[in-house]
Amino acid sequence: MGLAGSSLVPFAPAAVTAPAADQARRMQWWHQARFGMFIHWGLYSVLGRHEWAMEQEGIPVEEYEQLAKQFTPPPNAARAWARLAKQAGMKYMVMTTKHHEGFCHFDTKTTTYCAPKQACGRDLVKEYVNAARAEGMRVGFYYSLMDWHHPDGARCATDEAARRRFVDYIHTHLRELLTNYGKVDVLWYDVSWPLDAAGWESEKMNKMVFELQPDIIVNNRNQLPGDFQTPEQRIQASDQAWEACMTMNDSWGYQRTDDDWKSPKTVVRNLVTCARDGGNYLLNIGPRGDGSIPEDSVRILSAVGQWMDRNGQTIYTAERCKVKGSNFANFTRKGNTLYVHAHFWPGETLAVGGLKVKVKSATLLKGGLNLAFDQDPFRLRVKALPATAPDDPVTVVALECDAEPVQDNLFVRRERPRHNV
Ligand code: GLC
Repeated sequence: MGLAGSSLVPFAPAAVTAPAADQARRMQWWHQARFGMFIHWGLYSVLGRHEWAMEQEGIPVEEYEQLAKQFTPPPNAARAWARLAKQAGMKYMVMTTKHHEGFCHFDTKTTTYCAPKQACGRDLVKEYVNAARAEGMRVGFYYSLMDWHHPDGARCATDEAARRRFVDYIHTHLRELLTNYGKVDVLWYDVSWPLDAAGWESEKMNKMVFELQPDIIVNNRNQLPGDFQTPEQRIQASDQAWEACMTMNDSWGYQRTDDDWKSPKTVVRNLVTCARDGGNYLLNIGPRGDGSIPEDSVRILSAVGQWMDRNGQTIYTAERCKVKGSNFANFTRKGNTLYVHAHFWPGETLAVGGLKVKVKSATLLKGGLNLAFDQDPFRLRVKALPATAPDDPVTVVALECDAEPVQDNLFVRRERPRHNV
């Protein structure tokens, strides 16, 4: 939640935004998708010093507004994002339509502080939506409730007339966003400072959203439970639907000197963990002001995409997996098939302890090689594997089992025969 204080609200059982059956219908594609692209793009992308620069550097509103003069991206920058998302194996995209800085990428009657009425001169949400659809991506809108630019954005907490004006401003944006761009698949609210659900009129907000877009799903950051939870920069499973959002370096918005890139291996491992525990992974790019994608992001996502081409079947439509991992591998599951994702290749023999199901066959996913194995109550050993990892950055071995795979490591610890003294 950055510096904004926590907007991760605990799930309040009372407030439900839509009937459960309808929720299952609306969420179906999303559960299967597993992997999405987050895009943080705004005036901060011109600065290149992180999307919180306005607040963290104390930049006055009039000075910050000048950035709008330099924000003149060439048309259709979003096409390259959408192509990269598709290549990476992602199924949906979520772009900032307005971040905390208050600058709107969309055409709005509420303010001139928006891309079409500034130097850019175009509706960037429209370009984004068209680009995403052209690549078959589902379309998501990120929208920050907190607004550092609007005159009522802070005083709304203490001045009722200001609150009414500001809430009308915000609700109007959402109405515009969900009316003017055709079908929208995800609405991704962010930071709800400084109001609570009553102050934002969040129930009314969601009601309008579902009236305008009956198939949409919404997250939990407008102080209501919404359809899914949003653990940030961490993977945290829950019984509710959840999506871990994460940066590829340490910044959401373009930060020119942030070189703390995750490796393709780390990204794949994170994706595997999300799929193992029934969640989604929303991975961010922070394009520059001209819309270009940092080369490191392209490099990482291309490698992940090549891996997904070979191994995507272990991720999409994966079901929650009760086998939780070992030091060299992690697991995903589909039906009775357990996928062993080895990130540190063990060599010619790959062993899993405490599997409580019978393995019927073992296959090296890359190349489809059938593998020899033996199994006793304590250990499964897959044998005669290549000495070095056949796939990169993670190699998958598929184990077809006679029931849903479960593992009991305590059984191994307690029951394994020991020497008599
Ligand atoms: C936080 C940050 C923000 C980022 C978001 C993504 O709320 O304030 O900059 O957009 O998380 O989850």
